[in-house]
Amino acid sequence: SCACQIGPSMLASDLSCLKDEALKVVAAGADYLHLDVMDGHFVPNITWGAPVIKSLRKHTDAFFDCHMMVSEPEKWVDDIKDAGGDQFTFHLESTSNPEALIEQIRAAGMKVGVAIKPGTAVEGVLPYVSLVDMVLVMTVEPGFGGQSFMADMMPKVAFLREKFPSLDIEVDGGLGPSTIEAAAKAGANMIVAGSSVFKASDPAEVILFMRHSVEI
Ligand code: DX5
Ligand code: ZN
Repeated sequence: SCACQIGPSMLASDLSCLKDEALKVVAAGADYLHLDVMDGHFVPNITWGAPVIKSLRKHTDAFFDCHMMVSEPEKWVDDIKDAGGDQFTFHLESTSNPEALIEQIRAAGMKVGVAIKPGTAVEGVLPYVSLVDMVLVMTVEPGFGGQSFMADMMPKVAFLREKFPSLDIEVDGGLGPSTIEAAAKAGANMIVAGSSVFKASDPAEVILFMRHSVEI
């Protein structure tokens, strides 16, 4: 069995057919779906918000990992929960009161993730690790799919894994067959993969290949 879960990033899909694309990767073996919410303010791009997630929820029971690249995450907790979000991952850089936000997400009934951008020191998440379900170490600058994996973020992953053996650690950005080994070796166990899955002629093959390449 494999210690890694693979979550396709829907940002890389054909967004005119979001439902079909989601069902396709679920059938192809995705462990969860990664949904990138961007507000054009925290990051220089806009994707979608709760209404789109709510529409997608009608078609699948897949776990929705909502990556909130927004400036005021507090504003969207209830809407994302209502839309069917299972996990709310906020950026450490986006809030002045992480504890209150974590409590708000928990009270809404979702799992909690905290994300850090490449320029943010990993030590910044330490006060919150015991309060969250997952830490997301970004391996690209958030905002766009299709960028190159930043291998120099792996020391952050290794640092967290050494301190927290059972913590869920997610990596996001540039993950695919040629980079998953470095991420898994450092200790990541939740692998977001956008372009590598959706641009492939056979997504199931890529997911299987990635799974097998890090099997323990
Ligand atoms: C980037 C997003 C990622 C992105 C990953 O801001 O958070 O989830 O979609 O896409 P790939 O795998 O193509 O780098
Ligand atoms: Zn993401």
